[in-house]
Amino acid sequence: MVEKIIRAKEILEKYGQEHLLKFYSELSDEKKSKLLDDILTIDFKQLQELYESTKTKQNYENGKIEPIAYKSKENLTKEELNKYTAIGEEAIRKGKLAVVTMAGGQGTRLGHSGPKGTYDIGLASHKSIFEILCDNFKEAQEKYQVTIPWYLMTSEENNDDTIAFFEQNNYFGYPKEAVKFFKQGTLPMIDTNGKVLLNEEKMIKQAADGHGGVFEAIRKNGIIYDMSQKGIEWVFISGVDNVLVKPIDAVLTGLATDEGMLMAAKSIVKAGPDEKVGVFCKKDGKPYVVEYIDISEEMANQRNENGELVYGESHILCNQFNIKILEKLASNKLPYHVAFKKASYINENGEIVKPEQPNAYKFESFLFDAFSLLPDIAILRVKREEEFAPVKNATGVDSAESARELYNKFHNL
Ligand code: UTP
Repeated sequence: MVEKIIRAKEILEKYGQEHLLKFYSELSDEKKSKLLDDILTIDFKQLQELYESTKTKQNYENGKIEPIAYKSKENLTKEELNKYTAIGEEAIRKGKLAVVTMAGGQGTRLGHSGPKGTYDIGLASHKSIFEILCDNFKEAQEKYQVTIPWYLMTSEENNDDTIAFFEQNNYFGYPKEAVKFFKQGTLPMIDTNGKVLLNEEKMIKQAADGHGGVFEAIRKNGIIYDMSQKGIEWVFISGVDNVLVKPIDAVLTGLATDEGMLMAAKSIVKAGPDEKVGVFCKKDGKPYVVEYIDISEEMANQRNENGELVYGESHILCNQFNIKILEKLASNKLPYHVAFKKASYINENGEIVKPEQPNAYKFESFLFDAFSLLPDIAILRVKREEEFAPVKNATGVDSAESARELYNKFHNL
């Protein structure tokens, strides 16, 4: 322990973070040990670089941008549809598909105190989002006579509550052995002076490292290994907050297989040039998603001869990967994007501060930054009203209310 303290002090001094041990003597032995371990494992050099990066506007728009090819599900010929469905259904029946739901986000905009998946969007059935998602697995079980493995990515913050919720609800009637939880990585949050924040427990304030952390997390937690042992070939990865997500999709699986792609993504048509969504394109010949904050006015408004937006395929975080590519994606380091957020913390006097305005930087990697590691991807345009009902905000656009309406409409409730 003494050696650890000496080493920790050296590191903190080097990086100007000595305040992290200010309340050390007040901590329990268990917490003392955890704090020291955290200090010894955090990459402070990287953190310093990330802090420096907050001072300059990040530019992701260098490179040659071109439109990307896609297939619209609606316009597939009967032959194509039958072919993809048959290929996909065979793979699903043979147990070659697994699903990862990324539920490690903080859901700050929704403002719900528990994990987002535990939220009741107000359906007559009062099903939680997790239960709504689970319905897909139960339906597939009946339709294909197969139990699809379901992996849920949680965060340090919400892992225990998520597991407790599944336990309390008896896994919504799905076999417990088919459901696995794993935690994503974290990064410390820093203030505007680059100082790492302490949380209410006087420990380092850590935040989930973004949905891009999924690749590293599935490798580190042995999930890729587990999947390969089960003979899984395709892994559908999506967020927790789309109540119309269709994770077990024969057509998507068939399309990717038929086109010999290692990844297939779903897109929906962008509602208009100003909609706040990322869009698929090619950058320097590789698949890419341009975030709405990075898209130029000209690019957002460009239309083809049919009047459609040239960059109109919205990314909806519904992507399917061949297991062969996952190790590669997991060993690659994705860039971190910075977000300026409200974060409560303990100040130098040991008092809790709950800011009204953003005060801290959080660093996140984005799943779609991995797409450019693939030479090409298949994109299937699906209908918004059939597959996209996000729950992001407490009220208004993309809220529980809008998601509920879309859900009820689709299910004729
Ligand atoms: P969002 O970017 O919408 O973030 O995540 P969020 O945490 O749900 O909500 P806000 O921005 O704090 O209001 C899209 C999906 O990615 C998951 C989320 O759980 C959601 O399903 N995600 C996001 C993670 O699993 N981990 C992360 O670190 C970030």
